[in-house]
Order: sequence, then structure tokens, then C-alpha cells
Amino acid sequence: MKRSNPRQHDMPTDADKSKPVHPAWLRCTHWLNAIAVLLLIGSGWRIYNATGFLGFKIPRDITLGGWLGGALQWHFAAMWLLIANGLLYLLVNLMSGRLRRQFFPISPRQLLRDLMAALRGKLSHADPRHYNSVQRLAYVFVMLDSALLVLSGLVLWKSVQFPLLRELLGGYEGARYVHFIAMTGLCVFIAVHVVMVALVPRTLLAMLRGR
Ligand code: HEM
Repeated sequence: MKRSNPRQHDMPTDADKSKPVHPAWLRCTHWLNAIAVLLLIGSGWRIYNATGFLGFKIPRDITLGGWLGGALQWHFAAMWLLIANGLLYLLVNLMSGRLRRQFFPISPRQLLRDLMAALRGKLSHADPRHYNSVQRLAYVFVMLDSALLVLSGLVLWKSVQFPLLRELLGGYEGARYVHFIAMTGLCVFIAVHVVMVALVPRTLLAMLRGR
């Protein structure tokens, strides 16, 4: 079976080499998603500053929107981009079977091995078509985290219209904390993701050009 040995993902086959590393739809949705997320985080920080409900403020210079009304407009515009683009990404991944192929299985043993190798700077990434267990976990995490961000955001936006969701997230106040914690998780992912990309720059070329 093709996937029985996760180590074999490190060596591209001849058939693999003739295909683009990342198809065009994936590159488009990835970069649109990155833009939407950066706009959402910047404007979200400005919206947070209007209340500062956790007892601190985010430096104004790294927020987006200028004032609360402007930040809300950025936030809602980027929200639609994230939802539409995210659904498209998930739909194509699900319908083509790519989600299962590319991100699963995530075996705890392989994950531990890859994590140790990554910490020692020895994680092989010879074939960018296949993700190692650390990447798989990080990408599945960010998909679930983004879904949680959207769901908690819906409660904050239309609290009365989503009563079940609101109760599941601990009421309006609970949803506020969930939204903030999910945003923090997303920021941690982005920081680690960008460092990993900087360590293996040819993955960036593949995500830009496909090859
Ligand atoms: C803004 C700077 C970003 C850069 C430079 C960047 C770069 C990359 C690169 C190079 C890859 C391919 C990794 C590889 O082949 O090993 C990748 C994949 C991925 N990135 Fe990013 N990324 C950025 C932002 C984001 C953001 C904000 C998110 C999500 C919120 C994200 C989510 C993902 C996911 C889920 C994948 C896997 C895509 C798939 O194969 O379906 N990225 N990114």
C-alpha cells in the first residue's frame, strides 16, 4: 500500500515529479486565506481595544481600521472572504479525497519521532508534496481553529440568531473568550508556520509557483 511507510514520502517518485507540487486552486485559496486572516487579526485587535476586556490593550500601530467603525468594516469584509474561501478549500479537499490522503493518518509515534527530529533540525522534507506528521497536525489544528473562530464570531455578531451555538460556547461572554483564545492559537500557528517556511524556503517557491 502506498502509505504504509511514512518515510517513503521523503522520496518523490518519477510520476510525482511531473505533477505540480501545489495545484493552482490550492495556491489561490491558501494566499486568499492568508490575506483574510491577516486582515481579521489586525482589525480584530482594534475591535478588542475598544473594550480591552482582558485588562490590556494591543499597540495601536499594529492594529487595522483606525477607529472602531473602520475596524468593524474590515473585520466583516474579511470574514466573508475567509468563510467563502475556507469552504471552497474544504469542499475541494473533501470531494477529491485530498484531505484524507494529505493530512491523515497522524500516528502519535510518528509525530513524536518527527517532532524530535524537527527540534534537532534533522526533519527531512525532501518531497514538499507530502507533509510530515508535525505539519499534518499543525494544518489540521489550524483548520479546526479557524472553524472555531468563525463559529464563535457568529455568536458575537448575531448572538440572538444562534442561541444553540451561543449556549454551547458558554453564552456571549464565553464566546468572547473562545474567540480570543482561538485567535491566539492562530497567531502561534502563523509564527511557527512562517519560521518553518523560512527554514525551508523552497516550500515557499512551491506555494507561489506550484513547482
Ligand atoms: C502569511 C504568511 C504565510 C506563508 C509565507 C505561508 C506559506 C506556506 C507554505 C510555503 C506552505 C507549504 C508548506 C510545505 O509545502 O511544506 C503552506 C501551507 C499551508 N499553510 Fe501557509 N503560509 C502563510 C500563512 C498561512 C496562514 C495565515 C494560514 C492559515 C490560517 C496558513 C495555512 C496553511 C495550510 C493549512 C497549509 C497546508 C495547505 C494544504 O496543503 O492544503 N498559512 N503555507
